[in-house]
Amino acid sequence: MFRKIILSFLFSSALMGQALALTDITAAHREDNAAANAEEIIDMRSRLAKTIEPGSEVTEETFRKVCGAVAKRVKEISESEGVKIRHASLKNRNAMNAATPDEAALIKLFEDEKKNERWDTVTLDGIAYKRYTRPIFVEKACLACHGDKDARPRFIVEKYPDDKAYGYRTGELRGIISILLPE
Ligand code: HEC
Repeated sequence: MFRKIILSFLFSSALMGQALALTDITAAHREDNAAANAEEIIDMRSRLAKTIEPGSEVTEETFRKVCGAVAKRVKEISESEGVKIRHASLKNRNAMNAATPDEAALIKLFEDEKKNERWDTVTLDGIAYKRYTRPIFVEKACLACHGDKDARPRFIVEKYPDDKAYGYRTGELRGIISILLPE
């Protein structure tokens, strides 16, 4: 009897150990994925922006192929990975991307510490998330739409009357991207 209890104890703790190890693997996998997803989105935007012919007129059609295509991919990843993805900037174009006070603090940290990534936790609408964040920097190709105020394509001036996402220089911090994993 005693032996049986000991054996079943050993057996169940081995199972528990395995279950815990599996939880660890899943968590590590989700964390690796978050980093890969953020990188993919940043790289995709950069790659597409570079396809714009220098000096060509940038229209809404051009935009759809650059930041528009990125938005589509963001939606796909959010759905397939079950994560929430946020872009945030202190000088936003889309009102939805205006940095919250908490995101503004994160942006400031990236400006001060020059780190390439950061993990923290955050609660949004009552849901706790593990948050992975990367900074997004301005490249030459971005200036076609995020450069001088007066050089902005017409569709941007018309579509975004409250636009603040201009006047950038190459190398400046444009904003952040966060991948939020529900805890
Ligand atoms: C063809 C024009 C165009 C180019 C080129 C472009 N963007 Fe954008 N970008 C936009 C528009 C328009 C929006 C607003 C999209 C929306 O309504 O969500 C935007 C939004 C963003 C946002 C979301 C934050 C915000 O302000 O709403 C980030 C971050 C961003 N762009 C970064 C970049 C970077 C980095 C590059 C270069 C690698 C780049 N963009 C190139 C037009 C462009």
